[in-house]
Order: sequence, then structure tokens, then C-alpha cells
Amino acid sequence: MPVPLAQAIHADFQQRFGYEPLLVRAPGRVNLIGEHTDYNAGFVLPAAVDKEIVFAVGLNGGAQIRLVAHDLGETLDLPNAAEISPSETHWANYLLGVAAQFQARGIAVPGFDCVFGGTIPMGAGMSSSAAVECGLAFAFNHFLHTGFEKMELARIAQLAEHTYAGVQCGIMDQFASLFGHAGQVVRLDCRSLDYEYFPFDTTACRIVLCNSGVKHSLASSAYNTRRQECERGVAVLQQHYPEVQALRDATMAQLEAHRDELGPTVFRRCAYVVQENARVVTACLCLNKDDLTGFGKEMYASHAGLRDDYEVSCAELDALVEAAQAVPGVFGSRMMGGGFGGCTINLVAPDKVDEFIASVSAAYEKRFGLKLETYQTTIVAGVGEVAAEVVKS
Ligand code: GLA
Repeated sequence: MPVPLAQAIHADFQQRFGYEPLLVRAPGRVNLIGEHTDYNAGFVLPAAVDKEIVFAVGLNGGAQIRLVAHDLGETLDLPNAAEISPSETHWANYLLGVAAQFQARGIAVPGFDCVFGGTIPMGAGMSSSAAVECGLAFAFNHFLHTGFEKMELARIAQLAEHTYAGVQCGIMDQFASLFGHAGQVVRLDCRSLDYEYFPFDTTACRIVLCNSGVKHSLASSAYNTRRQECERGVAVLQQHYPEVQALRDATMAQLEAHRDELGPTVFRRCAYVVQENARVVTACLCLNKDDLTGFGKEMYASHAGLRDDYEVSCAELDALVEAAQAVPGVFGSRMMGGGFGGCTINLVAPDKVDEFIASVSAAYEKRFGLKLETYQTTIVAGVGEVAAEVVKS
């Protein structure tokens, strides 16, 4: 995390509120493979990355909530923390949703102040919203002495998104922000919540993100629709195979056998999920063998499924993947996150990164007249306190 960011957030808090805050950092995430599998009780393979949100938080001794979006230069004051409801101020809902979740667990939330800001590009599919939720959940856990385990904090943050942001998301983003380990990706079984870390050396293979700059205004409603389509698929299969509790349990043979009953759209959505789960498993075997080419193959297949069957890609993302595939030294490329815009994730040989960025940027500009933003990320630790020295130095 850039030191000046934490210092700036700390100074902003001190200046406005005049007392010493707790400083917390919460990273965004990448997901190597396993997209739209989390809410189907399947597998994901994310990592926390060095694009972060920093928070300065304190209890103010009163009932007021005072929120400051440092980057936007906007504030929101609310008179009574005991009476929280969704706000017209979009960014505030990620914070208020967390406070409401603590209250839903019977915990009194006193007045508090929070200044936050960071480097996670918004709407880029890097989970800035999950980072905002997880950072505040961590701070509350500290101040309110609730002693919640990290998985419970992830759940609180996920439910904040459901109830205050209206997105029926899975648990991947919040999990990744809280459970990240430096230099490791983590495979999560979204049913059992068991997880396993795998080393991923970003000096041996770079993770480069290409930001399409596209933000689809219908992304959250389309996301919720996908989720419903999956549930519809499960409901149909369950009539024939009671053991199918989620698409995680389904097979292609079962889907094929009930293709007509599922209908073409639900069939394709379900087929994508069943195949994507299998790809995560294969991709992890490749990681264990240091087989980046094999891993990359799964990524390309993932993108094709997201584009053709799950239908959450867009022309810009497809063009970025196509351009990446043409560059030597690129192991794999695919759209990342919920879709309808945001970033592609690309695994690139270190000595080919410059050529990759130049070539994909040129192709993107030529085709869409848009300047491409790219980020070379490293894998960092999950949510935590910012060391006091960082602010003093
Ligand atoms: C968003 C959601 C996640 C996950 C991804 C798609 O990031 O927040 O829970 O479903 O989309 O994999």
C-alpha cells in the first residue's frame, strides 16, 4: 500500500475529528478462475491484491455517524447510529449495511466516525465494495469486542451487500479480502468453506489486469437474474435427482437428460457453472505442477463459457481477451468478476509484460478509441491494521 495514502487518510481524520483513529487496510481481489460459482456452492480461486482501501475509524462517544469518502470529497452525517436505514448516498450504504448487520446480531452500534479512501478502481470488478465492507467490519469487531471469526466477518460483509447494495452476491469477494495471504492464491470451497492456499509467485508469472473502463448500469440486476436462473435449474434437477442441492452437485449428463425441461437459457447457464467448477479443480492441479500453459487453457475456456453460455461478457472484454491471446508469453486471459465490464485478468511471462501492454493497448484504442488502463498486481495479505509506524514515518 502506498504510504502517503494511509498518511492522508489519517491526517484527514485527525483534522476533522481531532482524536486518534484505528487505521485499517482492506485489499481488493483478483480471481484466477471460478467465476459465478460461489453462489452455486462451488469453487473459486481468488487472491487479495495491492489495490486497497484504507480506513480511519473511531468511536466518537455520542450517537452520531460521521462518514467521509476521502477520494470523492463527500461527507454524510447521520444523527443516530441506533436508527440506521439505507441511504440515498450510494457509497455510504456499504458502510451502513455493515453497521446494520452488527445490529442484526444484537450488538449496539454507538456513534462512530469513518474516513476512507483508496486505490481500488471502482466498477472494475476488483471488489472495491467488498473491501469497504470488510474493512469496517474488521474495525467494528475491534471496537465492539465482538470477537467474530474472519469467516463471520465475511458473512456480515456479504449480507451488507445483499441488504444495503441490493446485490445477491456470493462470498468470494469478502472472503478474499479477509483471508488473503501474501504470495498465495486461495481455493475456497463455497459449500464447506474449507480453503487451501497455493503459492503464486508474481515475479515468475505476472498478473496483469486490463480495465475495459466499461461500467454496465444493469450489472447488479443482471447478476441477480443469473442467480435466479441457476436456482431455477436446481429446482428442475431436484425433481429428478433429490441429491442436487446446488449446481455444484449437478453433472452434464443430468443437464443433458433434462435439456428440454430446463429450456435453452437455463440449460446454458447451468452447463457453464458445472463446467467452470471442473475447470477450477483442473486449474489447481496445473498450479501444483507449475503448468502455467495448462492453467491458462482453463482460463480461456472460462472466458468462452462466460461469453457464450453465461452471457456476462461484453464486446470490450472479448476484444481484450482476443488481443491478449495473440501476444506471445501470455498464458491465459479472461474476464474477471461479475462481468458486463470491468477488467480482464491475464497471466503473462515477466519478460513479455511490456510487449503485452503495448500490444493490447494499441488494439483496444484502435478498435474502441479508448485508452486502456492496466495494473500489474502483487498478492498481499488480507484485511488488517495498518502499522503505527506507517503513519509516523
Ligand atoms: C461478484 C460477486 C461474487 C461472485 C463474482 C462472480 O464479484 O460479488 O460473489 O459471484 O461476481 O464470480
